[in-house]
Amino acid sequence: MLFAVLTNDGIELNMNTIEIIAKKREHKKLTPTEIKYIVQNYVAGKIPDYQVSALLMAIFLNGMDYEETFILTSEYIKSGEIIKFDNISKPLIDKHSTGGVGDKISIILAPIASACGIAVPMISGRGLGHTGGTLDKLESIPGFRVNYSPIEFKYLVEKNGFAIISQTDKLIPADKKIYALRDVTATVSSIPLITASIIAKKIAEGIDGLVVDLKLGTGAFIQTEEKAEELSKNLIHIGKDFNKKVNVVVSNMNAPLGVAIGNGLEIIESIEFLKGNLSKKDSHYTDLIELTYFLVAEMLLMGNIVNTIQSAYSMINKVIANGTALQKFKTFVQCQQGNPNVIDDYSLLGKAKYKIPITINKKGYICAIDSKEIGLAMIDIGAGRKVLDSKLDYSAGAKIWGKIGDEIEKDETIGYLFCNNAYGEKSAERIRNAFKITELPVKRQKLIKKIFKREQITNSTNS
Ligand code: URA
Repeated sequence: MLFAVLTNDGIELNMNTIEIIAKKREHKKLTPTEIKYIVQNYVAGKIPDYQVSALLMAIFLNGMDYEETFILTSEYIKSGEIIKFDNISKPLIDKHSTGGVGDKISIILAPIASACGIAVPMISGRGLGHTGGTLDKLESIPGFRVNYSPIEFKYLVEKNGFAIISQTDKLIPADKKIYALRDVTATVSSIPLITASIIAKKIAEGIDGLVVDLKLGTGAFIQTEEKAEELSKNLIHIGKDFNKKVNVVVSNMNAPLGVAIGNGLEIIESIEFLKGNLSKKDSHYTDLIELTYFLVAEMLLMGNIVNTIQSAYSMINKVIANGTALQKFKTFVQCQQGNPNVIDDYSLLGKAKYKIPITINKKGYICAIDSKEIGLAMIDIGAGRKVLDSKLDYSAGAKIWGKIGDEIEKDETIGYLFCNNAYGEKSAERIRNAFKITELPVKRQKLIKKIFKREQITNSTNS
């Protein structure tokens, strides 16, 4: 298809989408005008999904260099508005995860960070591939709304110190459309596409700084240390070129985080965390607690709220113990039109009809978990999407407490699957098969694998 695009100089160019797809298919570099043409015309509804899907697959397979990624990010940003928080004097810091299984950290972290004095304007995502999405989890709260105009978003952040909303037609619509398409075309795990998607959302939010939780492992989009390093450096460099401070924490995603997986169940676990009911001594929750504390601490350090990690941890303990973080969460739910009674009445989140035990028929030690398989089992039972407009089942999910290193008996139950459709048994079997058992004891894995800080990455970009 042939369309017109205006260059920065106002020159109208005729371009052929098929030629651009073919160029990327042949490993060639796209020009800034070609990238601009694709993004602008796709957002305007002038290029069909099937052509952009083909281009995304070509980018997925053949990559983009730094310059192409930078231009893609800037075209995403230009597709909508950039928020300016003139009335907020607190540091504006956000956290973003590259996506994992059971990752409900944003829902816990934002009220805690806000109670500690950070303003958190969070534009988040829906489920992507086999990973769950913060927005889907929040929408399991009856009435909860995520779609707001830039002015409303500003108001929400100014009022309560934080808000979590979606990309909209005004806020990075390019990411809104392309993110949804990537989800259903198996084109998520691409370094340039992830970089543009994350950095553009964060620039549009008007933040000063960002902590990225880059997930690495079987439940993540990034599976090797080399790729994790490449993506970390890319995020930091592109952030730097847009004048934003970005630090990256590489964390282990070889096992689902915490116990709950699935929208409503993850909301319950998040509320329990904020109520102070998850014990650090309970090994099922160690990963969730440790990582949440670490990421909030990074935000507090970045925002100069504290000088040491120890003072950050004491501050976090305090706002959980005195109920301020929970109160922040309550006001947040009210402000975004959700029913705050869910905090005391979990039945409002719905209850699945079937509860199927996940038992392991072998004695030994859990040595590996294929968390992606668990994420895919969630899609089978309706907790995630198969197509663009799939309707989610918010009460479907699982509670899995078996962790790598745990010793288990033959036929021990290591979790339950909750569902309403006919895929329960098949999905439970898929989860059972995701657990690998050995006879010899297995060491627990390190949770925080590496930290990349902006100041440590010296070589400049555009190369
Ligand atoms: N999170 C995002 O916002 N975008 C991606 O592409 C992956 C994770």
